[in-house]
Amino acid sequence: MIGLEGKSALVTGSGRGIGAATAKKLSQAGARVIVNDLDADVAEEVANSLPGSIPYPADLNDPEAADSLIDFSVDALGGLDIVVNNAGYIWHSAIHNMSDEQWESMLDIHAGAQFRILRAYGRWLRQNADRSSEMRKVVNISSTVGMFGSPTQLAYSAGKAAVLGITKTLAKEWGRFNVTVNAVAFGAIDTRLTSPYEKEPNISMVKGQPRKVGLSVEQIKQSEIASPLGRIGSPEDAANAIYLMCIPESNWITGEVILASGGVRN
Ligand SMILES: NC(=O)c1ccc[n+]([C@@H]2O[C@H](COP(=O)([O-])OP(=O)(O)OC[C@H]3O[C@@H](n4cnc5c(N)ncnc54)[C@H](O)[C@@H]3O)[C@@H](O)[C@H]2O)c1
Repeated sequence: MIGLEGKSALVTGSGRGIGAATAKKLSQAGARVIVNDLDADVAEEVANSLPGSIPYPADLNDPEAADSLIDFSVDALGGLDIVVNNAGYIWHSAIHNMSDEQWESMLDIHAGAQFRILRAYGRWLRQNADRSSEMRKVVNISSTVGMFGSPTQLAYSAGKAAVLGITKTLAKEWGRFNVTVNAVAFGAIDTRLTSPYEKEPNISMVKGQPRKVGLSVEQIKQSEIASPLGRIGSPEDAANAIYLMCIPESNWITGEVILASGGVRN
């Protein structure tokens, strides 16, 4: 594995799923990781399993959380080389049933939280980085749903599409700070968001509210058939794609949307 020794990283939503696998991957490569999650217990569990890593439970929908998270990260790690904007959840329904709250919460967690974190990081970069600095990396998590759309996922797809605009614009703004900014868009990855169900969707609790999650067994079968590789991705597959955008070998790649979907393009 290519080393990230001495690097400092923040991975949001890294108490579970793709984020947890990413925190582990970056840690195994030598980075110290701030493990942020809404849920303190899982953030602590992941951070405690990774040497030198630190939990930072916080709800990124809270407008003040981003500034505190970036301040904490740079203080605790003595700087911040890698930011992975991964935290997210789903709250789907067809447009005629979609409430304003649903629309706003999806836009806020998938685009607003990324904006606030990157704004806070950008303020730090202005004081601490220029073209002569060592290269730093931002990886924003999007989805095939943000690129190609998906029925009943209007607000989620709008949030994930906004990630692409954030990524492409900041790549242009932050070249002068020697920062690459890329997005990784996943197809179906095996986490609680895609957990299989027979008849009724599974429920996961987000901020005390039950949210429908999962894919029906039939949808999973369709996703497997759609991939030339014949399966859905694992959290480790996803973490590997993020890792590629964090290592020095990707220093000449910026403003790109990397599709990590096992070959699915719809
Ligand atoms: N699983 C997939 O198929 C898939 C596909 C494409 C994109 N994604 C995206 O990947 C990211 C990770 O998803 P996952 O599948 O690992 O889901 P997950 O539910 O397993 O993990 C997401 C983590 O984010 C945390 N989180 C949610 N809201 C938060 C908030 N307000 N503040 C802080 N933390 C919060 C959750 O507590 C959870 O631990 C999400 O942005 C998701 O939209 C997932």
